[in-house]
Amino acid sequence: MQAIVSAANAPRLRLLKTIDSPILLQIEIRGMSTPPKGSVSRVPHWRCLRDWLSLLRDSNASAGTATNRKDTSLPEQKTAEPELAPWLTAMAELVQRETQPTRLPYPPEITLRLAVETAPLWQKIERDLKLRYGPPYWAVAWAGGLALARHVIDHPALVAGRRVLDFAAGSGIVGIAAAKAGAAVVAASDVDPLAVIAISLNADLNGVAIEANVDDLMPADSGFDPAAFDVVLVGDIFYTPDLAARAIAFLSRCCAAGCAVLIGDPGRADLPVDRLEKVDSYEVLVTRDCQFFGAQPQGASRQDASGLDLRAANVWRFAR
Ligand SMILES: C[S@@+](CC[C@H](N)C(=O)[O-])C[C@H]1O[C@@H](n2cnc3c(N)ncnc32)[C@H](O)[C@@H]1O
Repeated sequence: MQAIVSAANAPRLRLLKTIDSPILLQIEIRGMSTPPKGSVSRVPHWRCLRDWLSLLRDSNASAGTATNRKDTSLPEQKTAEPELAPWLTAMAELVQRETQPTRLPYPPEITLRLAVETAPLWQKIERDLKLRYGPPYWAVAWAGGLALARHVIDHPALVAGRRVLDFAAGSGIVGIAAAKAGAAVVAASDVDPLAVIAISLNADLNGVAIEANVDDLMPADSGFDPAAFDVVLVGDIFYTPDLAARAIAFLSRCCAAGCAVLIGDPGRADLPVDRLEKVDSYEVLVTRDCQFFGAQPQGASRQDASGLDLRAANVWRFAR
């Protein structure tokens, strides 16, 4: 269903379509240098569907434009968070303000919005946006993701013409690699809403389309159907024991549904090596300050001539 409601006085949000729920929104950021046009982000699931619709209706009503109430078919409800549109815009502005488009030294095919320093950015996110999703993982190119992105670009047959999920996507680096390598469809998922904004911006920066969403796909009752994908790509998710255990259960389900599951990892202690087959090894260039959030990766790193860390990272296939 196309453009059921259009928010006339909130032009930065445009409702594209609904498939029962959730809603898909296109985030349009006017007057910015790199509008994420063409990138589609799913509404954060922790925002009530009715609140979003109420907000859009209210926006249209106050602008004196017609709304298609018939199509929305939800009862009227007071908007719980009327500041939603500015809030979402503020998030997008923060991501743009606090990051620099950075061509990766490896793989150089990809440019990402990366933070120069992550600690002050983390502080701002917690203080100004009141978001508690931990460090800005999305503003960093992680060793596991770098290795997997390199691998996918070098082996396009893994994803070409296939439906790919970049799970725990962060910046979206791996999904961008898959899109560049010819994937038919790329979806990216991360629980941090700022990651979804960053993925949209990064997809645009690289001229690819990625559907990003903030649903937590891991619970067995999340409604996620792994059969919707042929390939699941995962960069650096085994950084805490709890997350690793949940990820193993989730990836097992993907595997059982017939997905090819590939993992990029810098040697995290909780990587389930007994369930994996090593596919390839890489030495990737990473920024120094942020590779050690969570569990310490195993193995030493050394510096290249430009002062970046060279770190070993492997690509694995989830076998069972
Ligand atoms: C170390 S970062 C890796 C990001 C990216 N894959 C890369 O390699 O650059 C781990 C990411 O996992 C995300 N994450 C944590 N729990 C998650 C969950 N339950 N579902 C999806 N993503 C999750 C975090 O928000 C973070 O962006």
